[in-house]
Amino acid sequence: MKPGSIVIGLLCLLCTLAVQADEPIVIKFSHVVAADTPKGKAAERFAQLAKEKTKGRVEVSVYPNSTLAGDKDEMQNLQLGAVQMLAPSLAKFGPLGVKEFEVFDLPYLFDDYDQLHRVTQGPVGQALLAKLADKGVLGLAFWDNGFKVMSANKPLHEVKDFRGQKMRIQSSKVLEAQMRALGADPQVIPFGEVYQALQTGVVDGTENPPSNLYTQKMYEVQKFVTDSNHGYLGYAVIVNKAFWDGLPADIRSALEEAMAEATVYANEIAKQENVEALAKVKASGKSEIIALTPEQKTAWKKALAPVHRKMEARVGKGLIQSIYQATGSDISKL
Ligand code: LMR
Repeated sequence: MKPGSIVIGLLCLLCTLAVQADEPIVIKFSHVVAADTPKGKAAERFAQLAKEKTKGRVEVSVYPNSTLAGDKDEMQNLQLGAVQMLAPSLAKFGPLGVKEFEVFDLPYLFDDYDQLHRVTQGPVGQALLAKLADKGVLGLAFWDNGFKVMSANKPLHEVKDFRGQKMRIQSSKVLEAQMRALGADPQVIPFGEVYQALQTGVVDGTENPPSNLYTQKMYEVQKFVTDSNHGYLGYAVIVNKAFWDGLPADIRSALEEAMAEATVYANEIAKQENVEALAKVKASGKSEIIALTPEQKTAWKKALAPVHRKMEARVGKGLIQSIYQATGSDISKL
């Protein structure tokens, strides 16, 4: 090879390296809900903080509403590195092989956000996130959504009202057991297909926190919403481990800071967002909001309490006990 071409070759290599050094590191953050939800807003806040704290060296592109990946493929896309960051609901970690996360789906496990935070922001939560490392996934944080309501085209006051109702659920065995305990027929459907499934009558009803019910317009195709707060729905923010470990140390710590601040934000707004979403559903006049009487609520709890025992084999008796200890409440004693 002539000396001239060696010099040109070296110059080209240097140019390429210079361009690469200037290019931001891109993090694709995919999720399935609307941008205008607690998770959607927190993802945007993380993107903004990541940009600021890394002085533009990291660009987080947020893809809401299953536009990049949906329930069926997002975990696989993360493991393959096609997306770098997700925040799936805690009910969706079974297919990844971490079925312990389904513990959060146990009905009436938490009375309020304070009890919940003693778990998600404490040692039990940290131990759960640590279980993900084996799967090539790193758990960064828990983000709240909220307490679920039940919806259907018939009023759901009493446990017997569920009999024969086809209810959409997420892919969680605990949710399946919950619906069966009520006498309903659970059907797993990806989040992005729920509106259509309700509209066309593939299923009769569903459960979700009000923020999802409202932003996905599910209330437009459900005549009744029972404000039951019978269970919790929240998220774990996860990244592809190889990608995260491969980041320069200063970038990684800036992103950790951004995630810590976005988490505080997420968990500050979630409660109010859900209160407002339920008020908007009510104001729309399209769904009637049903409040349970104390007697009805007790009957729901009695019907659902056995699910805790039944699911010990699935999620771990020790884990359930450690949550009772952290919260100070144990519905299985009912
Ligand atoms: C659902 O699938 O019902 C929800 O978990 C979607 C979400 O991410 O909030």
